[in-house]
Amino acid sequence: MKKLFIKTYGCQMNVYDSGRMAELLAPIGYGPADAPEDADMVILNTCHIREKAAEKVYSELGRLKKIKDARGPGANLTIAVAGCVAQAEGEEIVARAPQVDIVVGPQSYHRLPEMIAKISRAGGHALETDFPALEKFDALPKEIAAHGVSAFLTVQEGCDKFCTFCVVPYTRGSEYSRPVLQIEEEARRLVAGGVRELTLLGQNVNAFDGEGPDGADWSLARLLDRLARIEGLARLRYTTSHPRDMGADLIAAHGDLDALMPYLHLPVQSGSDAILAAMNRQHTGDDYRRLVERIRAARPDIALSSDFIVGFPGESDKDFEATLRLVRDVRFAGAFSFKYSPRPGTPAAAARKHLPEHVKDERLQALNALLIEQQDAFKQACQGREMDVLFEKPGRNAGQAVGRSPYLQAVHVDGAADLIGAIRRVRVEAVYPNSLKGSLLRDKALAH
Ligand code: 5AD
Ligand code: SF4
Repeated sequence: MKKLFIKTYGCQMNVYDSGRMAELLAPIGYGPADAPEDADMVILNTCHIREKAAEKVYSELGRLKKIKDARGPGANLTIAVAGCVAQAEGEEIVARAPQVDIVVGPQSYHRLPEMIAKISRAGGHALETDFPALEKFDALPKEIAAHGVSAFLTVQEGCDKFCTFCVVPYTRGSEYSRPVLQIEEEARRLVAGGVRELTLLGQNVNAFDGEGPDGADWSLARLLDRLARIEGLARLRYTTSHPRDMGADLIAAHGDLDALMPYLHLPVQSGSDAILAAMNRQHTGDDYRRLVERIRAARPDIALSSDFIVGFPGESDKDFEATLRLVRDVRFAGAFSFKYSPRPGTPAAAARKHLPEHVKDERLQALNALLIEQQDAFKQACQGREMDVLFEKPGRNAGQAVGRSPYLQAVHVDGAADLIGAIRRVRVEAVYPNSLKGSLLRDKALAH
């Protein structure tokens, strides 16, 4: 048996892809390795979204080169670079890091077995960065490895929005939605293996328009409704969404579907209309405020999270103030904020007015301070609340189990060790920095 180590960078779709790669290579004799040092093959599943993420890959390749060199001829280490850096840089990776054997983009990793066969037969490098998304999902194995209680499922890939800062439309290609029945089949297999919560993934997931069983294009709302009927599937989530694609039926689904969790990641990026326009987001700050109102009307207990970019080219103090204002108006339960990072080939990278690093730093700090205040307020408000917890794994103390709240918070509960995979009503007794402590409400009926 050969050993495979996959290191995953970036988003949840990369986590999903890494799982699929492991499943793909298992039938040709690759089992999991604990570390690159023990592996016959290492795959770096990379992220190109910001400069730092891409740079990390090259430093990891340096480390792998040492391992490879130390092994000498015969005892080989196959090094593959997959994911978005592979897509964006292609041949350049091999030029800069000749220790790399395989470069494979996110739409072509189903070809890994052929590529491995090719280099072991003929030596040299193998490179695949085509976009045959249609073919990929058909080519991936139907068998799915154990996933525990919660799993990701890619339903949509690529993006046609072309936000001016973003590499995704270039690295992941144009929008493609999987057919509904293919998704349902994968969901059923996951549920049969014990999965109770599915997070549907897509770069622009709410633009989903996959072919339905009736031959028509189905919206994400219809897909969610269909999946919610799968026996044993208790929770659904989806990420990441674009405000422009929050259709009326999707908003309504948040009120109608019990399985759809009341926690929505809806990136706004900025609160300034001028910057939103320069980013090509195709909506204003007020459009976003109104949208949030409609979503909250459909599902009053919903909590929102968002992504923000500070220091976009041309962002003035006033623009930044508008972002802080939007944050104060909306109130977020969670957020990721980033300093703008120019990405090669994107329109914003060619802008004239890039901001100095110290301005980006100051703004990031100020924004984070406000967002952390709101996150803390949200967490504190959970104290004393009752919520359903899906138990995922044993906790550190005997008899304890750790589960997730509807808001993805980790909840530690005593006397719950035999409840892995079950959902129980819990009262939140204490709020800690990274988790909640809860107690079981034994007599309460289950929500699902
Ligand atoms: N610079 C900084 N942040 C970026 N993001 C995407 N591209 C860039 C960039 N060039 C952020 C956005 C997006 C998240 C996944 O990453 O906020 O929503
Ligand atoms: Fe990138 Fe914008 Fe598409 Fe999101 S919606 S992936 S930020 S281009």
